[in-house]
Amino acid sequence: MSAADARVVIDLDIPGPTISRHLYGHFAEHLGRCIYGGFWVGEDSPVPNEGGIRLDVVEALRDIAIPNLRWPGGCFADEYHWRDGIGPREDRPRMVNTNWGDVVEDNSFGTHEFLALCELLGADPYVNGNVGSGTVREMSEWVEYLTRGGESPMAALRRANGRDEPWKVPFWGIGNEAWGCGGNMRAEAYADLARQYATYLRDHGDNKLYRIAAGASDDDYRWTETLMKSISCIGCGDGPKDIYQAISFHYYTIPGPWEDKGDATRFSTDDYYLTMLKARRVEEFIRGHAAVMDVYDPAKKIGLVLDEWGTWWNVEEGTNPGFLYQQNTLRDALVASVHFDAFHAHADRLVMANIAQTVNVLQAMILTDPDSGALVLTPSYHVFRMNVGHHDATALRVHVEAPELHREIDGQRLELLSVSASTTGDTALFSLTNLDADRSVSTLLDLRGRTVLGWSARILSADSLQAHNTAAAPDTVSVRDHEVEVVDQPFGAGLRVDLPPHSYVTVSVTLG
Ligand code: AHR
Repeated sequence: MSAADARVVIDLDIPGPTISRHLYGHFAEHLGRCIYGGFWVGEDSPVPNEGGIRLDVVEALRDIAIPNLRWPGGCFADEYHWRDGIGPREDRPRMVNTNWGDVVEDNSFGTHEFLALCELLGADPYVNGNVGSGTVREMSEWVEYLTRGGESPMAALRRANGRDEPWKVPFWGIGNEAWGCGGNMRAEAYADLARQYATYLRDHGDNKLYRIAAGASDDDYRWTETLMKSISCIGCGDGPKDIYQAISFHYYTIPGPWEDKGDATRFSTDDYYLTMLKARRVEEFIRGHAAVMDVYDPAKKIGLVLDEWGTWWNVEEGTNPGFLYQQNTLRDALVASVHFDAFHAHADRLVMANIAQTVNVLQAMILTDPDSGALVLTPSYHVFRMNVGHHDATALRVHVEAPELHREIDGQRLELLSVSASTTGDTALFSLTNLDADRSVSTLLDLRGRTVLGWSARILSADSLQAHNTAAAPDTVSVRDHEVEVVDQPFGAGLRVDLPPHSYVTVSVTLG
């Protein structure tokens, strides 16, 4: 047997933190064809639906065990007034969606429709409230409307609109991108508002809200520090005040300049490597925000939430520039797989992440054809599906020895092999991404601490990095079985896995 290019040592009996299933969360905004046409077709549509919600989309998302859904934005959240989206649809007021395409929003998808969608999906709702153009009272009443049982003005209004029982709403966002579309605020000004709003976001009955303050962009660690400072003091001993429970940040993978982000399907190998360099920076940013939080909150009471992430390309030719519709190739799938490795590695602080966005917008899981209604599962979708075994699993530390597997890109080092691992009971799941565009990589999994009884592997790859799925060719990028070879190792079991160029492989093992 020839020597492997990489050795990956994994201690199967040394548990790390839990990888929350909420790291596989989703985001759906009133933007382009995400809600309208994506999730919602209306009750009279020929597309099979339940109460107006597309059932093929629901089924596909249930297959990836969608854990939560963030709504209604994004930038839209800070212009959205929830009372416009309740009551008989024909009576609902209209508004202009100034952020996204300047189109008229008829509010036909509102609070009840969103909660019905979450019920069909089996996903926890994550509602993002309006700080930028709303009021404390408006947000406080929305929480009451959603979550209060018994007698109260908002519970009565909900009942008048046909819903007797309150919903369970665990996650609540206090505005969005307050430094930008959410009000162009200074960190200090927003920090005060976040405390004020959070105060009136009440826990009604047994509904416990997890309040998420709107956080930084990319590596704006000062924003995170300002929020942390505003709820804590160094050396006070008892950690941050329990006003809000988490802080978010957003990071998009955009290799080009903002004005010309690059094409989703037509790109060079150099563009690909630059994309991967940018994608892998997510780990640096998680580490940076976590380090700032550690200073004020060493016990890690406050969670870090990456509630928008993914690739952002130029829109597809002929589509509305404000709708952010883009194709999704094998390159996007590898962006996703390396993000998940970073999420697993920092699961002690990172408690939730939300892909932007679920249907027809940015790095989507699902694309739907506006004319035929056909549904296409993207390469990124398959990564989410292959990783379901990591949901709520125990992270395992991985040690990678691969001295040759890197490249210089733009003066920076890009590691070409990305690995993560987790265990649940008598199983373990390993994720392996080979980012090399041209070379296969042979890896030796050196598995220690438990007996390995069985194994199987799956691979996501295609002939080219540009490969993508369409209605005419829905399985160009799809998952297949993959070979694993058993080799003797001095300290435990050894599995040899060959990773073709630009591929993502998961290996599942059963343990004794
Ligand atoms: O996901 C698209 C937009 O990106 C969101 O509305 C906003 O929060 C971010 O800038």
